[in-house]
Amino acid sequence: MKRKLEEYINLKRSPLQNHIKTDLAIAEELNLSEYNAIRRLNNYFKYGVLSGVWHYFVNRIGKKHPFQNYQNPNDDSKDKGIYKLTEDKNLISLVSDWASDTPESDKIGEIIKSHNPDFTIHLGDTYYVGTKEEISNNFFENSSWHRGKKGSFALNGNHEMYARGISYFRDLLPTLGMYDELTEKYTGQKASYFCLENNHWRIIALDTAYNSLWLPLLEIKYPGKCKLENELLNWLENTLNLKNDKRGIIFLSHHQNFSAFEEDIPKPGEQLKKIIGDREVLWFWGHEHRLAIYDKNCLKNNVNVYGRCIGNGGMPVEIVNGISKYQEKVIAFDNRSRFKIKNTDLGFNGFANLELEGDKLKISYYDIKNELLAEENWKSNNNSEIRLDSIKILNEEISFSQTASA
Ligand SMILES: [Fe+2]
Ligand SMILES: [Fe+2]
Repeated sequence: MKRKLEEYINLKRSPLQNHIKTDLAIAEELNLSEYNAIRRLNNYFKYGVLSGVWHYFVNRIGKKHPFQNYQNPNDDSKDKGIYKLTEDKNLISLVSDWASDTPESDKIGEIIKSHNPDFTIHLGDTYYVGTKEEISNNFFENSSWHRGKKGSFALNGNHEMYARGISYFRDLLPTLGMYDELTEKYTGQKASYFCLENNHWRIIALDTAYNSLWLPLLEIKYPGKCKLENELLNWLENTLNLKNDKRGIIFLSHHQNFSAFEEDIPKPGEQLKKIIGDREVLWFWGHEHRLAIYDKNCLKNNVNVYGRCIGNGGMPVEIVNGISKYQEKVIAFDNRSRFKIKNTDLGFNGFANLELEGDKLKISYYDIKNELLAEENWKSNNNSEIRLDSIKILNEEISFSQTASA
């Protein structure tokens, strides 16, 4: 049974609440009202609030799924997580916070499919807690996740980690990766980080979620800092040779580096700064359920980043009253109201398309009506610099300022 968008309104970043919601969703699916009182009471314990609390502890306490890397001695594919793109046009659809299994996520999935992308990448968050069943409903047979012609990947999100990342690593990743025309199969995504590259650009996916939770029950007040794992930092430095490579960099992650609406999460950027120094990068993230395009920004001791928040993939986009910080950095922000549920104004879901062709990069932002909202054109000079040639906000309602440093 599909979930409804309204089930997700006011969903907190609380693993406990998310586990309870998971179990209540199961209880609803069982249609408990058809049972007699004893059976209902029994099911209430089995699938209701108490069971949610029980599942929270069972899932949260214990070891996380091991962090996967590209040094598995049993893997003789020589897969280092670096995948070559051809120099002609490659279309890559990015969508984040999409896996909600709602009519809205289905619609976005359909629109992405209609663009016929070479690659599709999910930037994380499978609701509520990334269980095997939730992963299956969103990404497997009869789901609306569209696998790109050449490959399909998924990043890790905090919601996958609410169940210790087990189903994300164990069940989802082996079904993704590059498409092999000989076997007509996706070859499996070996780790939660990877790189797609041509001779001018590198799209580098990071795992900011693996360390996004701290101690059980204290995680809301004291969230994790999203520290990047050492294995990932080693891969960036030694396998990707990121210190010396001069191609344009596009980072992808689940969590934001900074935000005009919520808290900044500076730790990964501080770690990256030690590798890439002052060079400017593009960085796509989700986690916040909105679309926001920023001018260049840099937190203290951090990377120089052009941030693009695209967390509006499938979850309710809740309209906000104001911008709390970095107001002067916001170029575009989709705060249009689409309809109201439970007295809450909801906005537009959407996704972004990246078109890479040689040194050129075109980014197009679409909404759930397949309306093209904004378009930007970038160039990499292969000397560690990226240049914004043009940015067009095509729907004036999302235009916030025209101060882009184009
Ligand atoms: Fe999310
Ligand atoms: Fe998230």
